[in-house]
Amino acid sequence: MGLRYLYDRDEELRKLLESKSSFLIGPLGIGKTSLLKSYVTKSGCEAIWIDGAKVLSLENFINIMKKEYKDFFKKVMDSKETALFSELKAPMLEIENYQNGKSDSLTFVNNFLEELSYIQGVKICLIIDDFTEMRKIGTAFTEIKRALYKTARKRNLNILLSSSELGYAKEILQRKDLPLQKAFFSLTVKPFNQEDSAFFISKGLEQYGVSCPKKNIGEAYYIAEGFPLWLSLIGLRMLEGKCNPQGIYTDSRTQAFWVERLSRLTSKERQILRLIAKNKSFKAAGPHSRRTLEYLIRKGYVLSNKYEHIVDPILNYLLKFEYI
Ligand SMILES: Nc1ncnc2c1ncn2[C@@H]1O[C@H](COP(=O)(O)OP(=O)(O)O)[C@@H](O)[C@H]1O
Ligand SMILES: [Mg+2]
Repeated sequence: MGLRYLYDRDEELRKLLESKSSFLIGPLGIGKTSLLKSYVTKSGCEAIWIDGAKVLSLENFINIMKKEYKDFFKKVMDSKETALFSELKAPMLEIENYQNGKSDSLTFVNNFLEELSYIQGVKICLIIDDFTEMRKIGTAFTEIKRALYKTARKRNLNILLSSSELGYAKEILQRKDLPLQKAFFSLTVKPFNQEDSAFFISKGLEQYGVSCPKKNIGEAYYIAEGFPLWLSLIGLRMLEGKCNPQGIYTDSRTQAFWVERLSRLTSKERQILRLIAKNKSFKAAGPHSRRTLEYLIRKGYVLSNKYEHIVDPILNYLLKFEYI
């Protein structure tokens, strides 16, 4: 939408720019990808950008990395003097070795990251957005984590990871045998507060000369709970002439977003989400409900303190009142 500038993330950006490698944690729609993009612009690094959600296998991961590196290589070769050539060529040689069957995939990942960290003339950063979603590639994921950990500890290469899967992210950071938290600065990305939420929407509307009652703009914060994704959508709806923020619940984009996401869960997981949204005990889902709840916590859908609650305010509402 029109709210193109990155609002209220100066503090976070400063911390990211001060750190060598970072791990961004926060629920879906809180602004991790936006923050990473902004980091790339502000730091001026050339990003090898991997979308963890799109990685389906180790082979796939390598191919994406290869493509990203080739694009970067071409870009630099087209623009800069070739003094850097040998440094930049080294990761390409690793790619070729791998393609010619001279190294196995895990050796390749390790060597490739190492070669990346030797590059000096150009500032490179490796970004893996939605990193924990790569766990679906199985044991190779552990090997990749190991390689990332090793590289990040040497502090030559900026590596930025992100995850919406709060439980998995915490487990990964705190694992005893591979404590990523020792090599990565972990940043929890928070929702906007009330004042910033109102300012964010008002500013966006102002840009387009649209106005909505103050009361509606204030109410948007309570509905979106400060999540930028929902504030943006409410703002967009306001631009479309719909000032009432409650309309976000019946907006087809909102509903499609969650319907698609929920379709990736098991039916038992969906059942438990519905129970929690209605303030009922997850145990009503019968055998193994505790285990299923654990998965929902790992995937970042649910938080459990004294009682369980759904992290996303809109999802909670949609399930509670059976809009979806
Ligand atoms: N700081 C921000 N300023 C303005 N808009 C933002 C900001 N952070 C997020 N957004 C909006 O919210 C949406 C979701 O943000 P995104 O970065 O994709 O979240 P995440 O990656 O955490 O799921 C974005 O499309 C963007 O419109
Ligand atoms: Mg994202």
